[in-house]
Amino acid sequence: MDKSELANYLAAQKSDVDRLLNSYLPGPKCDPPLLHEAMRYSLFAGGKRIRPILCLAACESVGGQSALALPFAAAIELIHTYSLVHDDLPAMDDDDYRRGKLTSHKMFGESTAILTGDALLTAAFTMMAEKGLSGTVSPKKILRVILELGSASGSTGMVGGQLNDIEAQGQDDISLEMLKRMHTHKTGVLIRASVRIGGILGGAGPKKLSRLTAFGEKIGLAFQIADDVLDVEGEAKKLGKSVGRDESKGRCTYPALIGLSRAKKEAHVLVEEALFGIKSFGPEADPIRHVAAFLIDREK
Ligand code: IPE
Ligand code: IPE
Ligand code: MG
Ligand code: MG
Ligand code: MG
Repeated sequence: MDKSELANYLAAQKSDVDRLLNSYLPGPKCDPPLLHEAMRYSLFAGGKRIRPILCLAACESVGGQSALALPFAAAIELIHTYSLVHDDLPAMDDDDYRRGKLTSHKMFGESTAILTGDALLTAAFTMMAEKGLSGTVSPKKILRVILELGSASGSTGMVGGQLNDIEAQGQDDISLEMLKRMHTHKTGVLIRASVRIGGILGGAGPKKLSRLTAFGEKIGLAFQIADDVLDVEGEAKKLGKSVGRDESKGRCTYPALIGLSRAKKEAHVLVEEALFGIKSFGPEADPIRHVAAFLIDREK
């Protein structure tokens, strides 16, 4: 897969996810219109859809039909977008730009932004239940997927990591071990869950699923390290969000703790290890291999 083939693959998967999200979400005029407009505003502002794409590619990597995984992949994006809306709030990271547009609270006010996040989070679960009921995935598998996504997103997963992140701000005694734990929780677990959910829906046996789990864990951490690096040397225009915020807010990041070049090296090593762990997978895993490499070699 060369660069343009990967770009085509990413665009095709993104458009499937977007089409489903668009048809599932209540229209912008549905009551209350302000809430539905705000949900659509953040969701369709231009995210990369990395998590759903990883889910679909993981499903393919074990020989599954990615169409089966699509509603669950889209649900992951709903949770991710909610996490961004809340992450940007004044009480959290206090950011003005996201996905190349004003953040939700800048556009609609803080109370609407909070409720928008709540509604996106809730919609993820109704979507999985509804699409699950009308589809061909067994109820037991659907419950497994719901459990995966719920636990990755909650207090022992993403939300817990977000709390650790807030607590760590301004502290100068954070160890690399603590930082790794924080990054793994706030970002890594949802990425690992995206990969695992794809594997589960694709029919992976225990061995392949455990290989995919290790793969997801490593690329999940690498992704947040790359995000930290982009905050230092990325371009706001390309990223669609402000840069230099981590340093100005005294946040604990990989570049702050171990320096830019070691941080980049660490992200590369993690992706190499991740790829090594799935070397026994066949050519059907090529898309996920290329997506993994892209995660740390991106400008946005
Ligand atoms: C940004 O995630 C927040 C992190 C967890 C690092 P993405 O870089 O995937 O953001 P979008 O979805 O493409 O906007
Ligand atoms: C966000 O991490 C992690 C989430 C769970 C949303 P960051 O705070 O570094 O993400 P950006 O840089 O604002 O996208
Ligand atoms: Mg944050
Ligand atoms: Mg942030
Ligand atoms: Mg960041």
